[in-house]
Amino acid sequence: MSIVDFGSFVVDLTSRSKGFPVPGQTILGNSFRYGPGGKGSNQAVAAHRAGADVTFVTKLGKDAFGQIALDFYRKEGMNTDYILEEEGLSTSVAQIMVDEESAQNAIIVIIDACGKISEQDVEKCRKLVESANILLLQHEINMDAQYRVIDIAHRAGVRIVLNPAPAAPIPDEIMAKIDIVTPNETEAEVLTGIHVANAADARRAAECFLKKGVRQVVITLGAMGAYAFDGVREELLPRIPVEAVDTTGAGDAFNGGFAMALDAGMDLFTALRYGNVTGALSVTRYGTAPAMPTREEIDRLYAATYGTK
Ligand code: RIB
Repeated sequence: MSIVDFGSFVVDLTSRSKGFPVPGQTILGNSFRYGPGGKGSNQAVAAHRAGADVTFVTKLGKDAFGQIALDFYRKEGMNTDYILEEEGLSTSVAQIMVDEESAQNAIIVIIDACGKISEQDVEKCRKLVESANILLLQHEINMDAQYRVIDIAHRAGVRIVLNPAPAAPIPDEIMAKIDIVTPNETEAEVLTGIHVANAADARRAAECFLKKGVRQVVITLGAMGAYAFDGVREELLPRIPVEAVDTTGAGDAFNGGFAMALDAGMDLFTALRYGNVTGALSVTRYGTAPAMPTREEIDRLYAATYGTK
């Protein structure tokens, strides 16, 4: 069993303040940190800490920010064989503002190196992708590379999980190759045109994905929890109540825990529970990749929330 996550690495430059500035306003913040982030990398770290065998593929610039990724993965004991580097490109960065009162965030991400994955880069990873149990994807790399990887995985019968974040339109012929799509409510609206405010809306959006050929659908709903539909059974899991200090990367934690459980052979609805638990634990800590929980922490909250079944 193994997961290949083909996605972004981004250095997160995060400031914390009471509230967000409005256009034209300067406010005083309370702290600043920088560290490893990016939706692809965060999800790979979450799945790795949750106990999965993960190989992460991304592209870095040969610069100080790229070194942050390499140092972090080595410290975590993650495979760095497919971390590509290219002279002349800059490692991607994100400016993140976290509101200390609501724990909400606002992000601007600048994709550079991981948005320049070439056809040759994808070919180097062909065998790796073909041998995966699960291919995990997001929307922070260049789409031509993304579509090539989807095509390779689809032909090889690899199960493809797409977290379509940040939201971007997906051609129907690509959507039909996706096994499981995991948008949040706003991404679901962009992709289906259905405003998702409750479980009935989530069902209608999920049916729209199924009509496009996707096999199973998960929609994360923030404070409302997480929803799954496989065409027959549906379930809305309430959010697990925790003391949130920073919600940045919660969706990534969810996807990492969810992918780990699928890779371990669990069904969609059990994997939904693992995603929910992993997401809940991540918001109790500051940061993105460094906030991902260990398998021991996940198992403890899982048992406390859902019992041992
Ligand atoms: O999902 C959170 C992530 O989105 C951050 O780590 C940031 O890098 C952006 O990619």
